[in-house]
Amino acid sequence: METANKIDIVHELFSRIERFPFPTVARVHGFCLGGGLELALACRYRVAVDDDRTRLGVPEILLGIHPGFGGTVRLIERIGVLAAMDLMLTGRSIDARRAAKMGLVDRAVPERHLDNAVRALILQPPARRKLPLTAKLTNTRISRPVVAALLKKQVQKRAPEKHYPAPYALVGLWRECGGDREEMFREEARSIGRLFVSATSRNLQRLFSLQERLKSIGRESKFPVRHVHVIGAGTMGGDIAAWCAMRGMRVTVQDREIAFVAPAIKRAMATYKSRIKDRYRRSQVQDNLIVDIEGSGIARADVIIEAIVEDLDAKRRLFQQIESGARSDALIATNTSSIPLEDIGDAMQDGSRLVGIHFFNPVARMQLIEIISAANTDPLQTDRAAAFAVQIDRQPLPANSSPGFLINRILSPYLQEAMTLVDEGISPVVVDDAATQFGMPMGPIELADTVGLDICLSVGEVLAAKLGGTVPDSLRAKVQQGRLGRKNGVGFYEYKGKRVVRPKAESAALPTRDLADRLILRLVNECVACLREGVVPDADLIDVGMVFGTGFAPFRGGPIRYALDRGADEVCARLEQLCNDHGERFAPDAGWEQVKN
Ligand code: NAI
Repeated sequence: METANKIDIVHELFSRIERFPFPTVARVHGFCLGGGLELALACRYRVAVDDDRTRLGVPEILLGIHPGFGGTVRLIERIGVLAAMDLMLTGRSIDARRAAKMGLVDRAVPERHLDNAVRALILQPPARRKLPLTAKLTNTRISRPVVAALLKKQVQKRAPEKHYPAPYALVGLWRECGGDREEMFREEARSIGRLFVSATSRNLQRLFSLQERLKSIGRESKFPVRHVHVIGAGTMGGDIAAWCAMRGMRVTVQDREIAFVAPAIKRAMATYKSRIKDRYRRSQVQDNLIVDIEGSGIARADVIIEAIVEDLDAKRRLFQQIESGARSDALIATNTSSIPLEDIGDAMQDGSRLVGIHFFNPVARMQLIEIISAANTDPLQTDRAAAFAVQIDRQPLPANSSPGFLINRILSPYLQEAMTLVDEGISPVVVDDAATQFGMPMGPIELADTVGLDICLSVGEVLAAKLGGTVPDSLRAKVQQGRLGRKNGVGFYEYKGKRVVRPKAESAALPTRDLADRLILRLVNECVACLREGVVPDADLIDVGMVFGTGFAPFRGGPIRYALDRGADEVCARLEQLCNDHGERFAPDAGWEQVKN
């Protein structure tokens, strides 16, 4: 309980601040998250600067813990249990205006009024804000167990207790101690002490620092991007353009005809409407997105991103035009998912300018971007691509140009094994359940449907041609039948709008663990192959890439971490056994020796 004892010291410190006989005001500008907000809560008043930079929140749950510096007590006292639990259980952050509305801060003011607002609070202290009656009623001895049960039900939908204990500990803490302030402080510290050393929290904390490592890759290079030109306004290009405009860049977007751009603009406007509440800011963002069929943006842009159809000849022709029209200092990038960079760069006069900026679908949700370099890529361009990724609030993962790059290469055997299981007669629901029980956010069959079965097939064929192996029959058949997945409403599953229609689960023909091993160990084995081939320089990058690029069970800390926790020898032995039972595709990769040492 060493952690708990240290936390008791912080509790004592914050309580002394809380008991000061004179008024204390926390001035908030920029990020005020976790312990920072807990300190602000110990002050008598809080004033936040109302601008884009200010964010308030308690994101500890994302690290497998919950607030521990008295935040569980003071946040509930300040804004009521439902609002407090919403912030603590989701880890989301809010802006100053929202914080003022819910009573988390006393004033949200423009920066120039900050001093006056602080002075006014001290000289004319307002009456303490009272919680609304509903907030009081949800926190009584009688209501606590009922509300706690409802909160637990909400949490269960997102995170099972055996994988993510922190939200359950938080709800339990309040249910048991919510009526006794001192006891809740004491038990908060004990609960953190337990959670802090859990495997889930250790893994999530490690991933957090690896994420920081990725972001720092992009921060090293000075490359301020103001204008992005996107060519190809389809699924990817349209969303890349919309996202960059939302991040404050001027974006010109080009396609063959206006009819091909129109759906992208329509999608972008709908997204802006739902995500940007401030009308003035929304119209600024809308103005940033400019249709440019002639491609006049090529000559002016800092970054040019190609996202046209996956066709080598078309891309080669286009890059010749781009090269001759672009500024000599412009960054030239392709979003290809399977064509080797060398094959495109060959067509250019200076192929060393070309870099891969590989976004994932859906662009607005996937935090990772692979930054691909070929052997002859100028490292300056790779650095600038990483800097661009950070400027659009994404994490750049540097990888070498090789078939499927990193993420699709690793994902492919996992998805294919799932389809092979379906070919063997196992229901897609059973296959998906095995993966979600392992901790994946979505099963591989539903994931393949979401990515698009045509794309899975083309990536699978590229990988099979370059690395060997076969594409499952069911995948080929579905594409031939025009069942492309979520995008056209039918793939392995059927879709009603955004909702998947999953047939009733049948009982598994094989134990779930066997199914999970077939899926996960093929994926892990491919990670080891990528490591051996040097697709990325180290295992940490594979772990963080797979978690943020594919959603690989975060609490397990990534595929290589999982293999090491389970034991590399044990994993290899299991692969040998699967190899005997199901074929050579399970043969342990030669790179395991490197992993074991
Ligand atoms: P898409 O078929 O939805 O869109 C392609 C767009 O390019 C179409 O609007 C088409 O009219 C336009 N186009 C074709 N030739 C053109 C030309 N010469 N000049 C201007 N516009 C042209 O394709 P999608 O899915 O957006 O893929 C685009 C690229 O992104 C491909 O290289 C693909 O491999 C890659 N990618 C796709 C992902 C996905 O999930 N769909 C994920 C990551 C990368």
